[in-house]
Amino acid sequence: MSAHKSVTVVGLGPMGRATARVLLEAGVDVTVWNRSPGKTEALAELGAKVAATAAEAIAANDTILLSLIHYDAMYGVLEQGDLTGKTVVNLSSDSPANAAKGADWVLDRGARFLTGAYMTQGDELGHPASKLYVSGPADLHESLRPLLEKLCTNVYLGGDYGVAQLYYQAGLAMFSAYLISVQQAFAMIERSGADIDTFLELTKDDAGSQRDFTLFFAQAAKEGGWEDLAALRMMLAGTQHVIDASEDAGVDAAITRTIKDYYQRALDASEKAGTVVPVYRILRGEA
Ligand SMILES: NC(=O)c1ccc[n+]([C@@H]2O[C@H](COP(=O)([O-])OP(=O)(O)OC[C@H]3O[C@@H](n4cnc5c(N)ncnc54)[C@H](OP(=O)(O)O)[C@@H]3O)[C@@H](O)[C@H]2O)c1
Repeated sequence: MSAHKSVTVVGLGPMGRATARVLLEAGVDVTVWNRSPGKTEALAELGAKVAATAAEAIAANDTILLSLIHYDAMYGVLEQGDLTGKTVVNLSSDSPANAAKGADWVLDRGARFLTGAYMTQGDELGHPASKLYVSGPADLHESLRPLLEKLCTNVYLGGDYGVAQLYYQAGLAMFSAYLISVQQAFAMIERSGADIDTFLELTKDDAGSQRDFTLFFAQAAKEGGWEDLAALRMMLAGTQHVIDASEDAGVDAAITRTIKDYYQRALDASEKAGTVVPVYRILRGEA
């Protein structure tokens, strides 16, 4: 059967389950397999075929979508079947180097490979902001696009197997810090007896302002980074104020201590160099 009509989904964590569910709802014939039991029943009720073994799941379809915790988990699963002539799309997260290594391993076994990285609102694939970053052979992506677009909007990023993971991990670098920081802010407010809803109202226009900073620092990054000494000193003092406000309220401020340390390192490096050293150069390992 055509890859657009029939597919195997291996790995049924929240993302694998969402992947299988969306495809079933789109009328695709889906075979599922998961290492441990108890995750297939709800999908079987929606019409999924449940493979008894990884080998059976691999044999069931020409196209195999993987949604596993990391690339290392792929090897133990796929070596149980014959990959000759198959297409493997790995939707799991990992480093660009591990994605490239995984691609080589799959290619060596006579299969084709695409890297997919879900840049999604959790497992809500239908959210308007959800995207699938894809890299690998362009012709292969074109042939699978009708299937993969059923999941969410595809963004094809080029032939390098690792590049989809690079953009994904860069996004996650920002997002993971944000997820902790936003909870630190809520904890500061709540532990101080103030009101989270007031804070939401006060910050409701932040997205536009953050975009402005992103654009400013993007331009600066292309020129080696931006900082002046007054800004470094202000941010060093400012991050200490956040630490004080957090800790006065009994809130863990470890993430702000880490941030403050970058400003301190940039100031120390600036003093040593006799010229301003931007935080960006510290992050790049240059100072
Ligand atoms: N959740 C999200 O919001 C989100 C968003 C974007 C991308 N992602 C990425 O999508 C991938 C899947 O995420 P997830 O949240 O669904 O769940 P997850 O907890 O990252 O992965 C769970 C899946 O990996 C399987 N697994 C783990 N180790 C294995 C091994 N050694 N051999 C075989 N299977 C193994 C688990 O099987 P068992 O059930 O047997 O343990 C389960 O099916 C991850 O790479 C994640 O980073 C997640």
